[in-house]
Amino acid sequence: MSIRVNPSILSADFVNFQKDFETISHADAIHVDVMDNHFVPNLTFGLPMVQRMQQISQLPLDVHLMIENSDLHAPKFAEVGVFSVTFHLESSDDPITTAKNIRAAGSRAGLAIKPNTRLDEVVEILPAFDQLLVMTVEPGFGGQALIESTLEKVSAARRRIDGDKLNIWLQVDGGIDESNIERVAALGADTFVAGSAVFKAQDRNAQIDHLRALAKAGFDHKHP
Ligand code: DX5
Ligand code: ZN
Repeated sequence: MSIRVNPSILSADFVNFQKDFETISHADAIHVDVMDNHFVPNLTFGLPMVQRMQQISQLPLDVHLMIENSDLHAPKFAEVGVFSVTFHLESSDDPITTAKNIRAAGSRAGLAIKPNTRLDEVVEILPAFDQLLVMTVEPGFGGQALIESTLEKVSAARRRIDGDKLNIWLQVDGGIDESNIERVAALGADTFVAGSAVFKAQDRNAQIDHLRALAKAGFDHKHP
């Protein structure tokens, strides 16, 4: 079982993305947060920026859409060639069709749920996806503390994925750092987004390696 650490560039220098990408070369993928100031109360960047990042990045891009009208917009992000496109259940009327459209354009399809959205709302449609993102903070901003009550969804999702033998990655995003990553991995998450925990470090690659080692220890301990 592989463990992935995806730094979130929400904590990067927004006028020096290319330079910052070079400081996180040990990452498994780069997590790219797209926010539209409607679905969340914050604004980052849109498709043209992501397209340009895709041209210059040596690493796969893991795009996390926090926007309204995902059914219309998500496939366009897949069309620029990014590795994965994750959209929120709360901004989609037809998640299965949107997942199909993302996959048809060549990207992995991810489904995200906010802290107050129940896992039961997505379990039936999980087979249409390659990744489930359980938000561990309210989406919108970096640097928030992990909401403990979201973690029971991580363990329940892991049980469901293993029980149904689904080939799907289980990602967590928000408030993940060296103090909790091992514990969250032990609950069954395998893909970790970390913004401030990576970008605040002097040596970001060493921090990525450290986080991955902690997560591996947690996950292996629970899932020998
Ligand atoms: C929050 C974003 C996250 C954010 C995480 O809405 O989806 O990806 O960058 O930042 P940290 O790791 O600092 O909580
Ligand atoms: Zn994110």
